[in-house]
Amino acid sequence: MNKRLRVLGIETSCDETAAAVVEIDDRLNCTLLGNVVASSMDLHAQYGGVVPEIAARSHIESIIPVIDEVLKTSLSPLTFRGRTSESEELWSNIDGIAVTYGAGLGGSLLVGVMTARTLAIAKSKPLYAINHVEAHVYSNFITSISPSCEGQTSASYSVPTAQPVFPALALIVSGGHSQLALFKDHFDYLLLGQTQDDAIGEAFDKVAKMIGLPYPGGPSVGLKALEGNPVAFSLPKAKMNGKYDFSFSGLKTAALRQAQSLIGQDFTFPSKNLPEALSEAQKADIAAVFQRVAIETVVDKAIQAYEEFSPASVVIAGGVAASPELRKQLSERLPIEIKYADPKLCTDNGAMIATLGAFKMKLGQPAADPYSLEIAPSLSM
Ligand code: KG4
Ligand code: ZN
Repeated sequence: MNKRLRVLGIETSCDETAAAVVEIDDRLNCTLLGNVVASSMDLHAQYGGVVPEIAARSHIESIIPVIDEVLKTSLSPLTFRGRTSESEELWSNIDGIAVTYGAGLGGSLLVGVMTARTLAIAKSKPLYAINHVEAHVYSNFITSISPSCEGQTSASYSVPTAQPVFPALALIVSGGHSQLALFKDHFDYLLLGQTQDDAIGEAFDKVAKMIGLPYPGGPSVGLKALEGNPVAFSLPKAKMNGKYDFSFSGLKTAALRQAQSLIGQDFTFPSKNLPEALSEAQKADIAAVFQRVAIETVVDKAIQAYEEFSPASVVIAGGVAASPELRKQLSERLPIEIKYADPKLCTDNGAMIATLGAFKMKLGQPAADPYSLEIAPSLSM
């Protein structure tokens, strides 16, 4: 018998309060039934980055409405027969709960984990503790979207036609992480390398702030770069000891020095005055050169790893995986075709958490203890 499992995923590691329901079947096909994301990004934009206290407070306000909404939109069309209360009926369609327990901001993670623990106990559901970075990769395992999910977002999703094949090389690039990993199978991977300082998305966010572009920096730098010349000047790529390690802090500083020199100033010129001092054309060139070099840095390593390990597939994950420049460079340089997740599933969301939770449940991985699961803010892969 085809036993379908439905898992509720909860994600609150940074500034997005997100929940989703994913269904997995016996052939491990994953369908997204509902996906709700409430972002406090607008509240952080004025500071040019995420403010942890504001993020935690806004998770507290949004978590219950977000979970309610995703359960209603994804499950109401299924089987509401009016025999029990609507809430009980909805919960009877959920088989497990998955929650991000790390890495992330402590106050933010606490809201998601305590909510998930409480629900797991109150509704008697198994609880799965999810590593946020690992989960980013699982956005690529969603290959179908239920009409219930399309209806609630107005925008439609484009998903890959098939799941990645193992061994899969995964490039995980976001605001908090830059990692290259080789997945031999589910739950069995080798971390090849990672950033030794800033994450790539963080560098985008900082350079955006430096030239007066809005947060989040990835999309705003990408847009500004369209007006600039990507080879207007050169910026250095860091040489690392670890073959697959990255560094973005030097690149960020080099972009600052370049900006200062473009306006005839030295390193003492305050970066906060740069947005006013730079012309629009200079900002566009800085955006274009920085973006090219930052993306080349991760693509160079991905190509090197591809050549060394000959994986059967390559996946990209994390917020920066939404970058058209990254997709362009990879498709130009990789000999195999990449199947991309929808950009809406690349930035933080509950769907990736629910999907990894669904695989854990379906493949018999141990559940967490809802009475004792703790947050792990600096959890690594
Ligand atoms: O995965 P994510 O939503 O959160 C973390 O886990 O960090 O990634 C957020 C990061 C931000 O740094 C943002 O600037 C970047 O992803 N980002 C992008 C794009 N959309 C978001 N970077 C490049 N191009 C994009 N379209
Ligand atoms: Zn993330």
